Amino acid sequence: MVATSSQASTTHYDDTVVRQFAFMAVVWGVVGMAVGLFIAAQLAWPEIGAGIPWLSYGRLRPLHTNAVIFAFGGCALFATSYYIVQRTGHTRLFCNKLASFTFWGWQAVIVAAAISLPLGYTQGKEYAELEWPIDLLITLVWVAYAIVFFGTVGIRKVRHIYVANWFFGAFIIAVALLHIVNSAAIPSGWMKSYSAYAGVQDAMVQWWYGHNAVGFYLTAAFLGMMYYFIPKQAGRPVYSYRLSIVHFWALIFTYMWAGPHHLHYTALPDWAQSVGMVFSLILLAPSWGGMINGIMTLSGAWHKLRDDPILRFLIVSLSFYGMATFEGPLMSIKTVNALSHYTDWTVGHVHAGALGWVGLITMGSLYALIPRLFGREKMYSIRAIELHFWLSTVGIVLYIAAMWIAGVMQGIMWREVNADGTLAYTFVESVKATYPFYVIRAVGGLLYLSGMLLMLWNVWMTVISGRSIRVAIPAPQAAHA
Ligand code: HEM
Ligand code: HEM
Repeated sequence: MVATSSQASTTHYDDTVVRQFAFMAVVWGVVGMAVGLFIAAQLAWPEIGAGIPWLSYGRLRPLHTNAVIFAFGGCALFATSYYIVQRTGHTRLFCNKLASFTFWGWQAVIVAAAISLPLGYTQGKEYAELEWPIDLLITLVWVAYAIVFFGTVGIRKVRHIYVANWFFGAFIIAVALLHIVNSAAIPSGWMKSYSAYAGVQDAMVQWWYGHNAVGFYLTAAFLGMMYYFIPKQAGRPVYSYRLSIVHFWALIFTYMWAGPHHLHYTALPDWAQSVGMVFSLILLAPSWGGMINGIMTLSGAWHKLRDDPILRFLIVSLSFYGMATFEGPLMSIKTVNALSHYTDWTVGHVHAGALGWVGLITMGSLYALIPRLFGREKMYSIRAIELHFWLSTVGIVLYIAAMWIAGVMQGIMWREVNADGTLAYTFVESVKATYPFYVIRAVGGLLYLSGMLLMLWNVWMTVISGRSIRVAIPAPQAAHA
């Protein structure tokens, strides 16, 4: 327990669970990205791991997505939401025993995923692969999380609920809804079940889930992090607090309808596809409103970007957020999707958001958080943070540029026809042409992973060395613009 704020100098916070989640976020980040690098290498050199079923691409790919999203991202979100809700409410966690249950329960989910996915147990639904007993455990942990988070909001000592908590609150409610509806299944054994839905309804429910996992999990929740840590690190109030509220309502309303853009040109009724496309185009506005609000928070303090690598992580993450949320609406246009779907362009888009936005905002926030949590003045090595920043930025650029080029090339090759109407290229020719780009992607991934390993070392050194100090951390002020 550390830290007091200027307004609530007697409040002691429950930070044990925050420390546990923050540390495990870094550990799981290394694991999830190492698996990402492994499967990236398999795409370039398919003989890697060949013959060993639990090392096969089909089993490790969901392990990668689950590890980076739910273990790395999830632990970081638990840590930051528990930290922020206490500071902005000037209160302790509602029930720290339940909070501790969320930590151990979530780690149990992660370990169960790490064992069951390589063994081949899966529901076959992307980002919702885990079998029903694990789904039940997720539900228990999530209900406990909701009780702790909203309970803490309920016992806050300040009237106002700071905007970051709105984003976290929406994320917790939406994920509960998505998980329960999409995972509805009929068990037919201990690790086997059948979806409660069939045919195109199954597809629609799945992509309503999938897209809102992007919208509420990979976006809204990380915006909660953004609205706390950017003002804090920049030492300035949010650029426009009013815009942050408009941003919130516009974003959560619009995301819910955009899912059908994952099902263009399928058996889904055409009107539903068009609804998905139109809402995706509208989504550009709140997304960019939020990005501009975050970046402009730095106005008058731009010089800080020169010497503060943590702030650079946070601000550059927003540029990638802007890039991914410009590209997404573009790809949702049916005629563009006719080219991009099934190609590596989608994978490039995903990682512009995942590595650029989710990864960098998390790393920046954890670098800001960890010294405070462990009572240190600053991270053990600022130069290592600087190096991490460049390793990850160059890694992302290599990754996404390679996938963009590969994706557009594949799309064009697949639709190219000869004068007599036959296909100009066989599929395998497009695979061959993609090979150099898979190698470049693997190099980008290696750089990104090296940065994460450096972070693990830096965090570890910060925890074990240095003198404990008490750090004053006033809550960020709301600028009522
Ligand atoms: C070292 C870093 C990483 C590497 C090398 C990497 C590599 C990969 C590879 C090779 C795939 C499979 C692509 C395919 O099937 O064609 C993939 C998929 C995916 N990765 Fe990563 N990844 C990394 C980090 C991350 C992070 C940090 C996140 C999220 C926060 C993430 C989220 C995803 C998602 C959501 C997919 C599925 C994409 C889709 O279905 O289109 N990855 N990754
Ligand atoms: C305005 C915001 C966004 C829109 C309208 C949007 C739209 C799209 C579209 C049209 C696709 C391709 C669907 C397909 O052809 O199958 C897609 C895929 C995807 N996007 Fe976005 N995107 C947005 C932002 C983001 C962000 C910020 C992230 C990550 C943090 C992200 C993660 C993903 C993932 C993981 C997929 C792959 C899903 C899959 O097939 O497995 N998106 N998005």
